[in-house]
Amino acid sequence: MTDRIDTTRLQEMARAYTASAVLYAALDVGLFTQVNAGCTTEKALVEATGLRAVDVDRLVSCALSLELLEWKGDELCNARDVEAYLVQGKDRYAGPWMMFTRPDVPGWFQMTEKMLDPASTKLGMYDELTVESARKYHQATSSIGFGAARRFVRTVDLSDRKHLLDLGGGSGAYSITCVEQFEGLKATVLDLPPVVVATQEYISDAGVQDRVKTLGADFTQGEFPSPVDVVVMASNLPIYDSQVIGDVVARAFRALESGGEMHLIGEMLDNDRKGPVDAAMWGMNELICGSEGRAHTRAECEGYFTSAGFIDVEVTEFVAGTLARCAGKKP
Ligand SMILES: C[S@@+](CC[C@H](N)C(=O)[O-])C[C@H]1O[C@@H](n2cnc3c(N)ncnc32)[C@H](O)[C@@H]1O
Repeated sequence: MTDRIDTTRLQEMARAYTASAVLYAALDVGLFTQVNAGCTTEKALVEATGLRAVDVDRLVSCALSLELLEWKGDELCNARDVEAYLVQGKDRYAGPWMMFTRPDVPGWFQMTEKMLDPASTKLGMYDELTVESARKYHQATSSIGFGAARRFVRTVDLSDRKHLLDLGGGSGAYSITCVEQFEGLKATVLDLPPVVVATQEYISDAGVQDRVKTLGADFTQGEFPSPVDVVVMASNLPIYDSQVIGDVVARAFRALESGGEMHLIGEMLDNDRKGPVDAAMWGMNELICGSEGRAHTRAECEGYFTSAGFIDVEVTEFVAGTLARCAGKKP
């Protein structure tokens, strides 16, 4: 018997935006926070949210079918990840990160027009940052950044290192977490001038001002502070094209002492470019945000490192399905 094909998968893709919209609306009305607070029936949810019963019925059906909510007997409860990350007031609340790209929705639906009539700059959305927008950006992204940084210190031993340079360090998540974990380490967070104002606030909150400094600069140009013995560049890979990333890696190599190491952490495509989808989509996001960036493959990243002169270059999984880590040593 031959495998039959049908349109199910394609239809789902054609309406995949509906899942995003339901998630945004559920967060808008605090659905998961209310369920956590004990509103586990639709009647209670109607009272708590002030929505019409019919809309609660619709929303709950969508949330159940998307496996955001579950049944526990006759009562509703949050799925495990929803309970951990989408209940406001909890430590790991990631609502602002889930909403972070919502303003880009209209742009994604103008993709065709943008491809036919492109308008891009090297820095894309980062051209227009202000101190206020940088603060807002990092309020949304820092929970994810600190989570990744905790994973980094569990994976990479920097106990013999003295000075970390954190390119595009944002909230300082990697620098702060690394100096907290490794006693002898100091760090410099290099980020755009409006951003480092916000970075300094995270550094003060963590009480590590004596060990983490900031430098307001554009990493696409100029030489980096030197000497350092570790360079980290995390979560900004698809913002730039191959020429810029290759050049950043080469300047990082020059800034490192002999024996030093570099870690490039980002959304990398598999070499056959068949995934992860998230990496491909972050590359496309750069069309929407108006930069010249694109998704890079693991092999391309290894190439930037070996061309710069790094040895022992290796790409490993960092967060499955999302982030990979390319590492190399300066001889
Ligand atoms: C997604 S955030 C990642 C922040 C941090 N590395 C982390 O993983 O938590 C990307 C950061 O790269 C910075 N960035 C982007 N382009 C830059 C440039 N040309 N020079 C300096 N920083 C840049 C942004 O300002 C932002 O803080």
